[in-house]
Amino acid sequence: MSARKGERKEIGLAVVGSGTIGRIRAVMARTYPGVGWLGVCDINEGLARKLAEDTQADFWTTDYRELLKRSEVNATIIATDENNHVAPILAAVEQGHNLFIEKPLATDVRDSRRVYDAIAKSGVDAVIGYTNRFRRRFLAIKEKLRTGEIGEVTTVTTRAFMNRMVPLATLRRTEERVNLQPMVVSGTHSLDMSLWLMEGKEPVEVYARSNDAVLGSIGTKDATFGIFTMKDGTLWSMNISWALPIVWPGAVYGLEIGIVGTTGVITVDDTHRDLVLASEKAQWSGYRPEGYHPEYERHVEFLTSYPPGDIYNGQLWGPMREETNAWFARLYTGMDTPHATPWDGHRNLVLTMAMGLSAERGVPLKLPIDEEEFYR
Ligand SMILES: NC(=O)c1ccc[n+]([C@@H]2O[C@H](COP(=O)([O-])OP(=O)(O)OC[C@H]3O[C@@H](n4cnc5c(N)ncnc54)[C@H](O)[C@@H]3O)[C@@H](O)[C@H]2O)c1
Repeated sequence: MSARKGERKEIGLAVVGSGTIGRIRAVMARTYPGVGWLGVCDINEGLARKLAEDTQADFWTTDYRELLKRSEVNATIIATDENNHVAPILAAVEQGHNLFIEKPLATDVRDSRRVYDAIAKSGVDAVIGYTNRFRRRFLAIKEKLRTGEIGEVTTVTTRAFMNRMVPLATLRRTEERVNLQPMVVSGTHSLDMSLWLMEGKEPVEVYARSNDAVLGSIGTKDATFGIFTMKDGTLWSMNISWALPIVWPGAVYGLEIGIVGTTGVITVDDTHRDLVLASEKAQWSGYRPEGYHPEYERHVEFLTSYPPGDIYNGQLWGPMREETNAWFARLYTGMDTPHATPWDGHRNLVLTMAMGLSAERGVPLKLPIDEEEFYR
């Protein structure tokens, strides 16, 4: 259990997965005063050993079971790649650890339900990594919606545009690609943000369409566009394309959201066009996973378009630092934080998959959907 308010409870942290994100969070753990013990792990021995060296970890291994059984551990970060979340989550729940789980909870609806039920039954404190919730702009909007500045929200539009480097880099890691669709892997961030801003509104129908001219050959879709109807009649248009060309200056995500209320409106331009770098040198400061060699050079970049944050002097600064440190504070001091809950994580997977299913069948789907519908 995490600390009760007013207490201080030292954190013994296990980080499962020492890739890009596991590394970022483990490095931050080492500088958080409440983390007393740190163990890291990866099936790739070189990555685990290097991260252990760089963070002066107390322990490292290639077997997550060995790490999670250590008596020092009371909190676990699951930072394995999308298809490999389930087994380490269940093992950490069995040990009663507090959990930070990278999105999505799982890439299969039955697995996600199994994981959600196990967490709910055990009573462990678990949060899901929806990093955008820790950005100042979205917290400011959330507060204005909470205090009713624009009246009742009636209409929402969400447009996510992404560089195709993300699907190209993500899909090459696995042959299990059927659920690695734009909404499931990446649109989940903007879907979570939109539903968090619309908190309390329940979707009752979704109608979606997809296309795949560019990325069909590697087993995914280019774009999914959908319209959700909420129980109170609110209309929400949720659109993503992750097929923008490599030369597009946005490193990962560009987001636009419009929220119309009965007495006001809020619009967000989160496309990062306000910070532009152009250079004769090729630019990859945001996103370029190890071993991935893009076939074109980019010379213009929208700075700050890599969602976790930006590197200064070898350190990552930005939303992922806020999110990670807030989670440590939640465990160490019992602070309330805006992290996504396991239910949010499960709901997000089901809704992103429902958009895919509606597009595949070419029909609107009633929500909440019978979760077995995905297997018919
Ligand atoms: N919140 C965000 O902004 C954000 C950004 C990028 C990625 N993510 C999420 O973070 C997660 C990790 O992504 P990444 O980019 O770091 O991937 P990555 O491929 O760089 O790292 C994943 C690591 O997990 C390891 N791994 C796989 N199975 C394992 C197992 N059973 N035990 C131990 N290690 C295992 C792999 O060897 C790999 O090194 C994904 O779920 C991804 O969707 C979140």
